[in-house]
Parts: sequence; C-alpha cells; structure tokens
Amino acid sequence: MKPAPTAVALAEAAGRLAGAYVHIPFCARLCPYCDFAVVPDRLDVADRYIAAVAAEVGMEPVWRPLDTVFFGGGTPSQVSVGSLSSIVDALAGRFGLADGVEVTVEANPEDVDLSYAHRLKVAGITRVSLGAQSFDPVVLASLGRRHDRTDIIRAVEAIRAAGIGSVSLDLIFGDPTETDSSWASTLHEAVTVGADHVSTYALTVEPGTELSRLVRAGGSGPDDDVQAARWETADRTLSAAGYVRYEVSNAARPGHESRHNLSTWAQGEYLAFGMGAHGHRSGVRRRNLRRLDAYLEAVELGRRPEAASDSVGGWDAELERLMLGLRRTVGVIKGVGGAALMASADGIRLATAEIVDEVDDRLVVRDPLRTDSVIRAVLALPARS
Ligand SMILES: C[S@@+](CC[C@H](N)C(=O)[O-])C[C@H]1O[C@@H](n2cnc3c(N)ncnc32)[C@H](O)[C@@H]1O
Ligand code: SF4
Repeated sequence: MKPAPTAVALAEAAGRLAGAYVHIPFCARLCPYCDFAVVPDRLDVADRYIAAVAAEVGMEPVWRPLDTVFFGGGTPSQVSVGSLSSIVDALAGRFGLADGVEVTVEANPEDVDLSYAHRLKVAGITRVSLGAQSFDPVVLASLGRRHDRTDIIRAVEAIRAAGIGSVSLDLIFGDPTETDSSWASTLHEAVTVGADHVSTYALTVEPGTELSRLVRAGGSGPDDDVQAARWETADRTLSAAGYVRYEVSNAARPGHESRHNLSTWAQGEYLAFGMGAHGHRSGVRRRNLRRLDAYLEAVELGRRPEAASDSVGGWDAELERLMLGLRRTVGVIKGVGGAALMASADGIRLATAEIVDEVDDRLVVRDPLRTDSVIRAVLALPARS
C-alpha cells in the first residue's frame, strides 16, 4: 500500500522545523529500568540548574524562531512551572517562537493536578506527555512507579480541563508481571481516557540498571516473542480506536502527531540545553556533559557544557537519513543510500521476505517488528566517500 500523500508531506516537512530540546534531569527516585541522564532526589539544586540552562541558552549562537520546544527528562514536572516558564522566556528572547509553536512537557501523573495544569497552560505549554506506563497496579509496582491508575485519569482530566490541546501517554509493555489481558486493558484505558497520542515502548533491559542486575542474577526479564505479540495487540487496538501509527512506537489521532519527534526522524535540526542533552545543528551533532556537577561547573564558569561534537556529512549523513526515516510508517525517500541497500544481498533478502518494500521513490518497512534488522542492513553497507 502507498503511504498517504498528506502523511508523507507532514513527515518530510518536519525536517525543516527548528526545535529545542531542554533536559530536566530530576526524578523523585530512580526507576529500576531507566538509564536516561537522571539525578534522583536532588531538587536542592533545581534553581541553580534552571539558571544554568537559561545561561546556556544565551551561549547558543542566535538562530531562527523555534517551531517546537520539548522539555524531556528525567521528570520536568518535578520543577516548578515558573522554572519551565523562565526557560521558555529565555528561548523566546534569544530565538523567537514561531506562530503555532508546539511546547511539550514530559510529566509524571502523580505531579499533575488541576492547578498545575492551569499554570502549564498559562506558561504556553501546548502538549503534555504523561509517563503512564501501565494502568495495572501489579505492573506499576514492578516498574517501581509511584502513581496508580487514578492518578493517570486525574492528570489527563486536569490537562483537558486546563485547555491544553494535546495529551500523550507513554506505555511500557513486556514487564514479566504483565499478562495479555492486563496489557489489553491498559490499552483500553488509554483509549477510554481520551489520550490524543500513545507511545508504546517494549521494556528494554539497559546495561547498568537495577533491572539488568536482577536479570543477570536469574530474575525474569522481558521475552521477545511475548513483546512481539504485545506490540501487535497495541497496533490493532489503537488502529481500531482511530489512532494512526506514524512510527514503530508512536500512534496519534490525526493532527496530534508530535512535531518534535517527526523532526528528529526527518533529520531535522534542534538545539540542546541541559545536562546530557543531544542537539543537531548545521550538520553537527553535539551532546552535553552527562554529570550534573560537571554540567553546572562548566556553565557557571561561562563555558559551553559540551561533551562531544561530530560533523555528520556525506555518506554518514545519508545512512543516518535512512536509519531515522525507516522508523516512520511513511518510510523514507530512497536516494542513493536506499538504492545501495536494495542492491545489496541484505536488501534483496529483506525485500524477498517482504520486510522492506519500494513504493515509487520511497522505501517502506512492511514489518515494523523487523525495523532493527533493516537498520542493521543499512549499517552494514560498505563505506563510500
Ligand atoms: C525518560 S522517560 C521521561 C519521562 C518520565 N520521567 C517518565 O518516567 O515517564 C521517557 C519514557 O521512556 C520510556 N522508557 C524509559 N526507560 C525505558 C526502558 N528501559 N524500556 C522501555 N521504555 C523506557 C518510558 O515509557 C518513559 O515514559
Ligand atoms: S523512567 Fe522517568 S521517572 Fe523513572 S527514573 Fe527514568 S526519567 Fe525518572
């Protein structure tokens, strides 16, 4: 089947958006599966951190007005709305905000009540992404979460009542305590509560986490076949409820796609602020220092808190364009990299197995559960100058 022209246009136009990612690393406590750049129980330095992020905004060369701003974490809802608002002001002052800017905040359900949601609305937040993970108390306990299903429902209702236009739920599937029916009922609850956007992530055992130590010590971890079946349940349920899956793990009611995410998969440019944040501007990918003390020290000494930066051009940029774009339901323009893939032994094998397909000038992954094998084939292409 051909990707819908409107979906193709939306996905490709996102590559021209100007974005900013702001990392807020604070968490009430560390979840056993998480390996993001987080600092549990350090809100004592929150004001200092926010001042450092605002100062870092001032160190970035001026740019065009921003189309998307994304506060990710960690847990942005651990800091005050005034803090988030001061960063939005700093970004607006330095770069400007485009008409209709999307401003997303990741929040944990237990942090969001009506007064908090109203303050987010006043601060110009247009989208809240809630870390719901599950509606099942057994799974939530196993994931080490601090909220229950009523917190999720209350948070979604508060966001709606405050007039914030888009609410997304993050869900995790494949925890060993989850059953087919508990996952089905989590999906059902996500739809019933009226989420505009749902992200469904397979629980991943990340090295160095408490979960990985548990699994190494003989505890049970996620099972690949079970996770594949759960992904299919999510795909079927969300599609039957009117959501359109636009990437392997993301589905939205039409008009509620995350522009920040779409821009990333379209190889778009976005600035990065805060500890451990990654950015992409003018052909350079850069990442910030990942340790809180090192980050604060660098900014307070007037230095950019950069850990590394790489120019990505030529063939590497072409491979990156394919790897990112192939995650989308609309796939990616074939280009020279796609042509090389389809002429390779791996590409021929993947096409014969109907995992990847050529549709006009595009490459589309037909079996999203095999996206990783297509990306491995891209990575295995011989280098070109
Ligand atoms: C880094 S968190 C930040 C948002 C918020 N603090 C939270 O926990 O919901 C973003 C999302 O990543 C997902 N995530 C984090 N670690 C994961 C893992 N090991 N496996 C699968 N999903 C994970 C969760 O769904 C989470 O909502
Ligand atoms: S999953 Fe979210 S709340 Fe839990 S440690 Fe990671 S960032 Fe913090």
